Amino acid sequence: MKNDPIAFFDSGVGGLTVLKEFMKEFPNENVIFVGDEIHMPYGEKTNDQIIDYTYKISKFLQTKNVKLIVIACNTATAAALPYLEEHFDIPFLGVIEAGSQEAVKVSKNKKIGIIATNSTVKSNSYKDNIKSIEAEIDVHQFAKPNLVSLVENGDYKSTKSKKMVANNLIDVNQTDIDTLVLGCTHFPIIENIIKQELSPNIKVIDPGVELVRKIELFLKRNDLKNETSEMPIYKFYTTSHNSNFKQIGSKWLNIDLDEIYLSEDDLNL
Ligand code: DGL
Repeated sequence: MKNDPIAFFDSGVGGLTVLKEFMKEFPNENVIFVGDEIHMPYGEKTNDQIIDYTYKISKFLQTKNVKLIVIACNTATAAALPYLEEHFDIPFLGVIEAGSQEAVKVSKNKKIGIIATNSTVKSNSYKDNIKSIEAEIDVHQFAKPNLVSLVENGDYKSTKSKKMVANNLIDVNQTDIDTLVLGCTHFPIIENIIKQELSPNIKVIDPGVELVRKIELFLKRNDLKNETSEMPIYKFYTTSHNSNFKQIGSKWLNIDLDEIYLSEDDLNL
């Protein structure tokens, strides 16, 4: 059980930002990652569609005997976490609760901004989570689907891309928030550019960092930490041949990443 893998999934490369934080803290854990590139962007899909995709991914992960499934995607957490918890015996951890708790801790003026996908914003998941911790906090939500495409295209360092990030942050900068949650796991890949374009008095929260603390707690409490010193095995599955997953992932994680194709048939178990 202890050396069973931990699974992470996302619609694309975004979940790798959570995985990168995880790998820093847990260099011995075996990992399976699924990037559902064929269905990306999740942020433009209905809840039913997202539940369908993530149910199939979880079914597949169940066959791999994973000890935990980390939903490294805000959109999927908002749309599907309760459903998946209800339908599987495997433990799940989502990213939104972690991000909300950290934002409440950090904000001094009690005005928090969220940048996320259309679907996450519509779900009000961050707003509800934050308000359940502290009801009087103002939550300003901004849907920024363009930033997801920017990351998936892989050319986020160009001048044109920097301009696009700046344009996308104009409305955020016009508010009086002191804390901004990167409410989409794709965004930490462009965190430096976001910070350059954001008012200097706004603090940036990456929920993935806090989520890793929750994973740590889970492993400790359940005595599931892998204690062997063997080299870990990482497996990366993607559902499309036509994405920049391998290229972006290798660069982001600084490893030679091999992607394994996961077909519709593999997922229709
Ligand atoms: N990375 C996903 C998130 O955290 C969303 C990207 C998408 O729209 O597929 O919400």
